[in-house]
Formats: sequence, C-alpha cells, structure tokens
Amino acid sequence: MSKSLKRASTGLALLLAAGFAFGANAAFDGGAAEGSASPAEATASETSFGLGRPATEEEIAAWDVDVSPNGDGLPEGSGTVVEGEEIFNAQCAICHGDFGEGRDRWPALSGGEDTLTAMRPVKTIGSYWPYLSTVYDYVHRAMPFGNAQSLSDDEVYALTAYILFLNFIVEDEDFELSKANFTEIEMPNAGGFEPDDRVEEGHYRADADPCMSDCKPEPVVITMRARVLDVTPDSNSEESEVDSSVD
Ligand code: HEC
Repeated sequence: MSKSLKRASTGLALLLAAGFAFGANAAFDGGAAEGSASPAEATASETSFGLGRPATEEEIAAWDVDVSPNGDGLPEGSGTVVEGEEIFNAQCAICHGDFGEGRDRWPALSGGEDTLTAMRPVKTIGSYWPYLSTVYDYVHRAMPFGNAQSLSDDEVYALTAYILFLNFIVEDEDFELSKANFTEIEMPNAGGFEPDDRVEEGHYRADADPCMSDCKPEPVVITMRARVLDVTPDSNSEESEVDSSVD
C-alpha cells in the first residue's frame, strides 16, 4: 500500500468514526429534548437493533401454561383414577414406583404423612404440597422426565387424579377429576403454610430506618461455638487437632 493511499484510508476510517459519534449524539439530543429521564434510556428505547421479531400468539400460548391455586389456567378436560393408573404404570412408575413411593433416588410422590416435624421430613404431594394446582402444572410442564409436554390435558387430569388416589386423598377408583371439580379438592397440608406478609412485620409497619451500626445496646457476647455443636467429625487428622486447639 502506498503512503498516500494509506493516509486516505485512515482518513476515511476517522470520518466514519466521527459520523458514528455524531449519530449517537443526535440520538442523545433527541431524547433530552423530549424530556426523557436520561440519555441512556432514550437511546435504549428509541434504537432498534434489528434483532428478533415479536412472538406469535402460538408461541406465547406455549409458554403461558401456568395453573394457579384458584384454578386459573386450567384447560377444559377430565380424567379418572383408573385411566391415570394405566398411564402412570406405563410412563411414570419406572422412576416414581408403582405406588408413587419413589424408586432408587427418584422422588416419591406419595407417603410421608405426619413426618413434617420429624428429624427427616418426607415431603411429598400428599404430606407437604398445599395446592393441587401445582401437581397439574408440574406434571403438564415437566413430566415424564425426558419427554416433557407430551401428555394431553385429559391425561394430566387422569394422572393428577391417580396421584390423589395414591395419597388417599380420593378413595374411589371411578373418581373423575375435571376442570369443574378441581378446586374442590383440599390438600392435607393446605393449612401448613403462612402467607409471607412482611408488610405486617413490626419493622416495616413502623416504616423505620434500618439500624446499620451499634445496633445492640450491650456489647455482643458469644454464647456458643461451632465446636459445641459437634459438627466436626472425631478423628486424629491434623485438621481436628487444629480444631480442638481453637477455644
Ligand atoms: C426418568 C424418570 C422419570 C419419569 C419416567 C417420570 N419422572 Fe417425575 N420426576 C423425575 C425427577 C428426576 C423429578 C425431580 C425433578 C426435579 O426436582 O427437578 C421428578 C419430579 C416429579 C414430580 C414432583 C415431585 C416433587 O415432590 O417434587 C411429580 C409430581 C412427577 N415427577 C410426576 C411424574 C409423572 C406423573 C410421570 C409420568 C407421566 C413422571 N413423573 C415420570 C423423574 C421422572
């Protein structure tokens, strides 16, 4: 490349850079003139990056599948315990066990009654879940594991009915779960949850400023050490020697 040509191309690059900067400034100015909050916001909202396209109604519908405790989002449909049993045995029992007891390390879907206050609570749909809507939503959304969203609405109703049966929440094999009777089902642990209503909590109610320094009137006293909790396994390793020397 000759010297003069080189200079010319550098000049072009500089011009382009200047033009770009000018363009950006113009966008800033436009935003400011219309009274936008900040130049950055104005550019973000006024610039199209030429990427993507609006989602279609079908695409939104495919994502918009959540089911709420009050029944919002439930599709039309129904299914019985007996129908659910057949689908469960074919598509779910291999992981969740014939009676929902869970195989190997796969999760249990039944059992665990009266264990919530035990040392090792067994939290299942029957013992723990407060709403049946979560069963419908979750099975429809995520199961069978590896082949999610392959079940029809009626099949999910039937499976949900069968899971109720496995947990003795319904006892009639001919029981049919449908959109119409769905919210009549009360889960055993429905009363076991409290709304997280922090606005009612003293600090928020008083609208107080949080204390950030010297918040305890008295000097802080250490009441317990980790060693007392006995979390360190007994052994003659170097680590435990170090541990016991800390007091
Ligand atoms: C290949 C094994 C497998 C199969 C088959 C399977 N699941 Fe699951 N299931 C899982 C795993 C793994 C989880 C936990 C997933 C997680 O926590 O992310 C799970 C979780 C669940 C849960 C939530 C349990 C809880 O207490 O959190 C439900 C309900 C459930 N499955 C229902 C079903 C139904 C109904 C079928 C049949 C249509 C099915 N599963 C088929 C593996 C499987």
